[in-house]
Amino acid sequence: AGTTSAGATPAEHAAGATGRRSGAWFAAEGRNGFIHRSWMRNQGFGPEVFDGRPVIGIASSWSELTPCNAHLRDVADAVKRGVWEAGGLPLEFPVMSLGETLMRPTTMLFRNLMAMEAEETIRANPLDGVVLLSGCDKTTPALLMAAASVDLPALMVTGGPMLNGKFQGRDLGSGTDVWRLSEEVRAGRMTPAELSEAEGCMSRSRGHCMTMGTASTMACVAEALGMQLPGSAAIPAVDARRFALAQAAGRRAVALVEEDVRPSAVLTREAFENAIRANAALGGSTNAVVHLLALAGRVGVPLDLDDFDRLTTEVPVLVDLMPSGRFLMEDFFYAGGLPAVLRELGALGLLHGDAPTVGGVTVREATGEAPCWNREVIRAADEPFRPAGEGTVVLRGSLCPDGAVLKISAASPHLLRHRGRALVFDRIEDYTAVADDPDLPVDADTVLVIRNAGPRGYPGFPEVGNPPVPKVLLEAGVEDIVRISDARMSGTGYGTCVLHVAPEAAVGGPLSLVRTGDWIELDAAARRLDLDVPADELAARTPAPPTEPKPERGWARLYTEHVMQADRGADLDFLVGRSGDAVPRHSH
Ligand code: FES
Ligand code: MG
Repeated sequence: AGTTSAGATPAEHAAGATGRRSGAWFAAEGRNGFIHRSWMRNQGFGPEVFDGRPVIGIASSWSELTPCNAHLRDVADAVKRGVWEAGGLPLEFPVMSLGETLMRPTTMLFRNLMAMEAEETIRANPLDGVVLLSGCDKTTPALLMAAASVDLPALMVTGGPMLNGKFQGRDLGSGTDVWRLSEEVRAGRMTPAELSEAEGCMSRSRGHCMTMGTASTMACVAEALGMQLPGSAAIPAVDARRFALAQAAGRRAVALVEEDVRPSAVLTREAFENAIRANAALGGSTNAVVHLLALAGRVGVPLDLDDFDRLTTEVPVLVDLMPSGRFLMEDFFYAGGLPAVLRELGALGLLHGDAPTVGGVTVREATGEAPCWNREVIRAADEPFRPAGEGTVVLRGSLCPDGAVLKISAASPHLLRHRGRALVFDRIEDYTAVADDPDLPVDADTVLVIRNAGPRGYPGFPEVGNPPVPKVLLEAGVEDIVRISDARMSGTGYGTCVLHVAPEAAVGGPLSLVRTGDWIELDAAARRLDLDVPADELAARTPAPPTEPKPERGWARLYTEHVMQADRGADLDFLVGRSGDAVPRHSH
């Protein structure tokens, strides 16, 4: 090979000419360059891979403990094909994985840890760009937050939803039907044996939840933000087209490096507005609110809780998917997926069509002519599934001065304006222990209050905000009551559940002052949630203290000392913003 005029090897020369970040490692001379290249060659790479081609990291949240992401190594293989094809060098690496179904106390305790770990791994390594492989709920926002804070060219490939569940001749939706079937058993309408059989029928293929829960919501949100290739969010995990899409994403990752398109150029205020409106049109998860606020904080886009209400007052729910409706993600894909929804938003004048996507086309170019093949699943803008304003609304009032959210499409219309007496539980476990008690003092008007389930108080901001309706009420035919908490709710959940009350009880929010028997007034149309107790009486009350001891070590300690409230996306205060990709110092 020899050396060139400046004494550089061909590899150094090429890296220098293209100015690649990875060249600082792989084009280095002497001992450091030897170390960077030699150990990589133990994987069977020849010297030509260090010729200055873009090095594309594939950040994989694969894990057998995250069943929704357990197929991501196969997806990574398809991404690699695309990277090689476009002349890049793909290098797959693991990042922390967060599986909703197994992790305790809640994956949300770890979203910021995963984001931090992925951010540091991306920055510390010789990468020019990165493909983010996610699936289960928190893995998508965590990787987006990481990529935004490093701001290297990046795009996301979600793993895709499972095929529709099939049981006793009908469809079963992930999560949503778990709540429903377990209530059927409690009410004596289904046997435990049938419930056991349903387990295998609900989750019958690889992929994430196939309801419009948090995983599908965040996959669509990533696409609406422009961070996934257009049309990719809804492709089932097992569909061959997902792997073709992953290969295309690999090719695009190389192009993004060559064009120097960074997340900061994609994640604009317009992109966030598109994502917020898309979520409303999808009847998507309340968790998207928290994740988008956190992501906006990373890129420095001004966004607050009230934006979610203001931007969606004119957005009808266009998609008839569980938990708000009937269908599932497989149906949604066949009907046209997110592009068909964005086209309708465009027709309503509620889409920023000029927003870029990682696909190299604008949102308008990607969706302007998108076909819809099933108007039962994806409705036309003039014949919506639900009228405008029935997505997630933001409440204010004496019980939630910094806001709370309520997903109207998952609530019962007759409870949207409601006055009832509080029944208060300091710990969710205190309630679940008595939920089936025939003597529980409740009626259809009771307002169930669960506190100390916020970011700081639980700790970790778990999905316990839709606790089961008391059995005594279920047996009397009452299927829903107003529930209020500082917790979150699973994206697959439903019910008249006021969530994310801020400030939370554990930091002394008004929720900590409520007593059983107090009158609480909810008025969703007026966006109000009030504790109807005279101010002087409230002032004389002592707040209920936090129930959990302060964690003394480890992540939980760092988390509880720095986590912000729900209205700030529950990110850590010191993770707001970005540090870029620079690493000035050597390791050897
Ligand atoms: Fe992983 Fe629902 S449990 S996506
Ligand atoms: Mg969930």
